[in-house]
Amino acid sequence: MQRQFGAHAEAYVHSPVHAQGESLRRLVALADPQPGWLALDVATGGGHTALAVADRGAVVIALDLTAAMLRAARDHARGRGANGLLWVQADGAHLPLPSASLDLVTCRIALHHFPDPAAALAEWARVLKPGGRLVLVDNIAPTEAEAAAYVNAFERLRDPSHMWMYPLTGLAAFCEQAGLRVRHHESLRKPMDFQAWMDRMGVHPTDRERLTARLWNSAGEARAFLDPQVTPAGVTFNLHEGIILALKPG
Ligand SMILES: C[S@@+](CC[C@H](N)C(=O)[O-])C[C@H]1O[C@@H](n2cnc3c(N)ncnc32)[C@H](O)[C@@H]1O
Repeated sequence: MQRQFGAHAEAYVHSPVHAQGESLRRLVALADPQPGWLALDVATGGGHTALAVADRGAVVIALDLTAAMLRAARDHARGRGANGLLWVQADGAHLPLPSASLDLVTCRIALHHFPDPAAALAEWARVLKPGGRLVLVDNIAPTEAEAAAYVNAFERLRDPSHMWMYPLTGLAAFCEQAGLRVRHHESLRKPMDFQAWMDRMGVHPTDRERLTARLWNSAGEARAFLDPQVTPAGVTFNLHEGIILALKPG
């Protein structure tokens, strides 16, 4: 994990998909952060979600496992003159935080790296105050099992730290199992530039060829889900994001 993301930290800080994605706007709207709130952004990566929440006046603990990623995110935030951010290196599934201490937990485009998502959700529920909210965004898989396996294998070939992405119903089930109440869920289509997607993880030329073959050889529901296209700007395909707002009963 640290090797995978440490080597590509700057690419994530400057990635338009992460810095300006539509899911970031929806996450902030659903979280509705308030001045005086204490928030946690798990797996902050380039720090874009933490920055957006801090811009609303909350104090944000921006937490990530990868030291190089945290350094790059912190330098970027300082360059923007951002306030109210605390940078913490830790495992998002074992938080160095007391129970019932936070108003908001966010995690965007990262749960698919966690080997035990149910345990991670339980940990995030633990640190929320009663009435506190979780906004979870992650890449999602198609509902049909064979297509989900195909798309997950495609992702793992590009990024060995990819564990598994679930359909939206699976993300909601993890939240409910952790004792949270799902109040809202939605999904978004995320058009991707195929070349930039591979560049961001520094994919080896041999694996680029294999990924290209898998993209164009996809069939059935996996093909409809990825929907590869040749455009004047290059090859594009779709990822899909699930967005969930869940509350801790209070
Ligand atoms: C795609 S980036 C996250 C993007 C970011 N949340 C955003 O909104 O732009 C994935 C991040 O997850 C982090 N990560 C993966 N597993 C983790 C864990 N168990 N605990 C904390 N961070 C983790 C990686 O270090 C990496 O920085």
